[in-house]
Amino acid sequence: IIIWVPRDAAARSVGADAVAEAFAREAEARGLEVTIRRNGSRGLFWLEPLVEIATGGQRIGYGPVSPEDAAGILDEGGGHALCLGPVGEIGFLKRQQRVTFRRCGVIDPLDPEDYAAHGGWAGLERAAKMTPEAICEEVTRSGLRGRGGAGFPAGIKWTTVLEADGAQKYVCCNADEGDSGAFADRMIMEGDPFTVIEGMILAGFATGSTQGFIYIRSEYPDAISVMREAIAIARAGGFLGTDILGSGRDFDIILRRGAGAYICGEESSMLNSLEGKRGEVRAKPPIPALSGLFGEPTVVNNVLTLASVPMILSGEPGADGYKAIGLGRSAGTQPFQLAGNIRQGGLVELAFGVTLRELIEDFGGGTLSGRPVRAVQAGGPLGAYIPAHQFDTPMSYEALADIGAMLGHGGLTVFDDQVDMAKMAEFAFEFCAEESCGKCTPCRIGAVRGAETMAKIRRGENVEANLEIIGDLAELMRDGSLCAMGGLTPMPVMSAIEHFPEDFPGQASKEAAE
Ligand code: NAI
Ligand code: SF4
Repeated sequence: IIIWVPRDAAARSVGADAVAEAFAREAEARGLEVTIRRNGSRGLFWLEPLVEIATGGQRIGYGPVSPEDAAGILDEGGGHALCLGPVGEIGFLKRQQRVTFRRCGVIDPLDPEDYAAHGGWAGLERAAKMTPEAICEEVTRSGLRGRGGAGFPAGIKWTTVLEADGAQKYVCCNADEGDSGAFADRMIMEGDPFTVIEGMILAGFATGSTQGFIYIRSEYPDAISVMREAIAIARAGGFLGTDILGSGRDFDIILRRGAGAYICGEESSMLNSLEGKRGEVRAKPPIPALSGLFGEPTVVNNVLTLASVPMILSGEPGADGYKAIGLGRSAGTQPFQLAGNIRQGGLVELAFGVTLRELIEDFGGGTLSGRPVRAVQAGGPLGAYIPAHQFDTPMSYEALADIGAMLGHGGLTVFDDQVDMAKMAEFAFEFCAEESCGKCTPCRIGAVRGAETMAKIRRGENVEANLEIIGDLAELMRDGSLCAMGGLTPMPVMSAIEHFPEDFPGQASKEAAE
């Protein structure tokens, strides 16, 4: 019997290690031949620790399990109250379209044979025989867009790096997942790290780069240790180093740890940080694809972008198959992350085009508090607050832009009807003031003035005049900031004012009068 207990940080935070120990102990006491294996999380967080017992070719789930439940589960099996039946049949999971996360929660993340048995390295084996131009062409044809938030076509970025002149090109994987409500990068690093490594090697093959860096935020100690071990295993297995798979190409990866600054998720700050400098934003142009790490042509991609590439090159679903999934120019699948006040928080990977309502209600089961959902912030702390009447918007880059919102990294933070949206607007400025790198004036000064002005509005001081100031300030920050930190802070602020005027003193009556 194999008993799977996740080693993912979310599962460990609710006691998965103690659960694994309890099963080992109880199995021994019963003389059962049991192997405890540690998988990643399937992303059904409200059921963690979600234990799976594999017998007869099926994996039967139990959750949420505490150490005291181990004895009962071993004795009663499927009759136990926590039994969920075959894991793959759980509605939340069954209705998903897992492409990037197909192996996450299924395999032992640090077993390269398990990875290979589930289709791992197939993309690399095929790409090893392809020219860099052909790899770039396939990634471009797949329609894959940057999953870090901006959605820039990955294949075009790679082609730019391939065609650029440079003595040493680099591939930098951005794993500084700083958005509130976002955890997909962490989950895949902890649950399927070889996919990220394979994606980085493919980016190297495609662009003629031999050196990769992965920059992981320090708040992710589990992801750091899993990735570190996975890199060593891949190197020992001949997947990193020189002449990979007899291709005549070299590629290796160095892991670097961030130090807790949100702005180091911005690509040029991350490059500065990797170079050992202060994490301050660089002026663009030049774009990193032409002049990035140490001034050399550099691919900077988010974890999920890189993790999506092996499936595109392996032919499952392949470039055309990937493009056929999704909605228009938003090709493929998106791992949506349900967080905040939600009953069933976790990861939902689906083709673009699913509505916010389906995600929040059908998958998320509404709020944890049981109260009505009032707002969803999409795309992290710089994203818009979306009101209930827009919940039928299909999730795609274009449809969200049409309503003045953005998808960002796919984090969805849910709020019930007790949220104070004026307070959230003030928080957006406070967040920007705290995390600004300080390089440009609209953001450095604007965020502080914005927080002060919003505090006055909340106290009911000169509300009309101060709202006008906020409007001007928002325009200035949007148009005059050097990067998305200052440039996007107006998005949560103005969406809160526009959609929830009743939370701002005097505005509800004004709206009623109009
Ligand atoms: P951007 O639109 O300036 O650039 C997107 C990417 O495309 C960059 O890598 C850029 O170098 C590249 N690029 C642009 N033009 C190019 C060209 N002609 N050829 C080759 N490459 C080109 O957006 P930026 O500032 O990189 O990112 C902003 C986004 O970051 C926001 O939309 C937000 O959603 C997201 N974000 C994500 C966070 C996370 O935790 N994942 C946190 C905060 C923001
Ligand atoms: Fe730095 Fe803010 Fe300017 Fe970005 S917008 S460069 S974070 S000061």
